[in-house]
Amino acid sequence: MRIDVAFTPAGLAGGEVAGRTVFVIDVLRASTTICAALAHGARGIIPVASIEEAMRLAQTLDRREVLLAGERHATRIEGFDLGNSPLEMTEPVVHGKTMVITTTNGTRALLATTGAVAVYLAAGVNLRVAGARAREVLARQGDLLVLCAGREGHFGLDDAYAAGRLILQALDGRRPRQGLNDSALVAVDLARRYGSRWLRPLLASQAGRDLVDLGFRDDVTFAAQEDHLPVLPQFLDRRLSLTAADHLTGAPA
Ligand code: MLT
Repeated sequence: MRIDVAFTPAGLAGGEVAGRTVFVIDVLRASTTICAALAHGARGIIPVASIEEAMRLAQTLDRREVLLAGERHATRIEGFDLGNSPLEMTEPVVHGKTMVITTTNGTRALLATTGAVAVYLAAGVNLRVAGARAREVLARQGDLLVLCAGREGHFGLDDAYAAGRLILQALDGRRPRQGLNDSALVAVDLARRYGSRWLRPLLASQAGRDLVDLGFRDDVTFAAQEDHLPVLPQFLDRRLSLTAADHLTGAPA
């Protein structure tokens, strides 16, 4: 069994993604925001690296069906329909829409997964469903990679803690002995230290403190609600959408 964590996309060694199943985490806020948008009926979400690319792509899509979303330094981008707050992703706003999104760290992490066999998005709000899929992947392939978005190239406490929670779910009570890289061991230690009290590590993290300073404390509280949005976004063919299992059971309102 092998479980690796990378605390930032830059921390990935060359070829580390190839052929593996990857869980991408950006709890504050891209993962949480994308879960909220898909749970509330967005058809698909296309992450892109730059503002220019987002605008170019939106022009090729039907303007009535597309929403531009994202942030730079946690602030909405001028001319965009939405920022990067999960609280903006309500059903009346996103239902039936395709969203093109560009964020500082989250989209970068998603776009770093080229070559993976499967890519899922994990957060606190979908921990249990993501954990169940991680458990299946471990049982089938004996291997998984958790990629944290981090913050501007640095370790992020929020994502590292979430990675640890995800690994504990994937291990389903089994004690990890071998097969975890050092980052995974640290992530599991953090998860044990804080237990299920998401708000503590989220508020303690730099990303959380910045969001509170910018007036987004409610977003941090939202992101801390474990299993609030039981959907599993999958990143396939450049687009995030709900997995088949989610379609069968129906996304929560
Ligand atoms: C990111 O992708 O950098 C974050 O989601 C930033 C944010 O919280 O807006």
